[in-house]
Amino acid sequence: MAVEMADVSWTALGVAMARAAEDDRPDPLFHDPLAAAVIAAGGEHAPFAAGQGEADLWQLMRELMGDYVSVRTKYFDDYLLAAGCRQAVLVAAGFDARAFRLDWPADVRVFELDMPQALRFKEQIVERAGVRPRCERVVVPTDLREDWPAALRAAGFDPGTPTAWLAEGLLPYLSVADNDRLIAGITELSAPESQLSVEYLDAEPGQVPELDEVEPQVTEWFRELWKGGVGMAADRWLGQHGWDARIDDPIRLGADYGRAPSPMFAESGAGAPQFVTARLVPAR
Ligand SMILES: C[S@@+](CC[C@H](N)C(=O)[O-])C[C@H]1O[C@@H](n2cnc3c(N)ncnc32)[C@H](O)[C@@H]1O
Repeated sequence: MAVEMADVSWTALGVAMARAAEDDRPDPLFHDPLAAAVIAAGGEHAPFAAGQGEADLWQLMRELMGDYVSVRTKYFDDYLLAAGCRQAVLVAAGFDARAFRLDWPADVRVFELDMPQALRFKEQIVERAGVRPRCERVVVPTDLREDWPAALRAAGFDPGTPTAWLAEGLLPYLSVADNDRLIAGITELSAPESQLSVEYLDAEPGQVPELDEVEPQVTEWFRELWKGGVGMAADRWLGQHGWDARIDDPIRLGADYGRAPSPMFAESGAGAPQFVTARLVPAR
């Protein structure tokens, strides 16, 4: 399959690879029906693999990310199901297979937003894999730096229905200004009782010493993609936009799920990723 994709969408390939690895375990935290097919179709073309020992680099990424992505996936799976909303929006869905694998309650609509090229590629994989969604799945090709709320509404999103929003693996790839516009748009479209969960990371790529030491080229590639994130602590940022946020620690969650933390994030301190779940504060 010929693959063309914006550079930033290749990051989705890395996490799909980690999900495929989880799927291979005898005691998986989840089954991902798309991940292996995504890797088979796109993996060898990833830009950071070009001209390198490709298998070595993928193996390295796998070692660095593996358990972390498994913990993150399980956490956000649990969040989406516990939210109990009839509408869910996967903001920057990438190759997320939740629409196909979660046990959604009846009548749930799941919207998937991402770059047009990434979603075109994904739809080919979905067709090839022959998987069927377990909800009403709506794909919304859009650039999140542009008027994505209009695209979402045009796709049938109902701003009067409580929504479970998810931004997993996204915020660092947008600038502070773009993230501010993103959260303003999300808030504007959120009915009372809506919820939001995000992955938050405030360390720049060069601040992850393990990665720098073993493969500076990967760090360099991420550095180019890094656009700034939200510019402050995630709970404060969400608080400013009307959300009451709770922070969860992937290291502790890893222990709960029986997974060791990734060596990249072994120390739960400054620069370690956090998972944040928030509720819209009711208007007075
Ligand atoms: C690390 S991947 C995460 C994908 C998915 N949430 C997951 O965890 O598997 C980042 C995703 O953000 C998307 N993305 C980055 N910038 C974007 C933008 N401006 N508009 C739409 N999607 C964007 C990329 O295409 C990619 O799919």
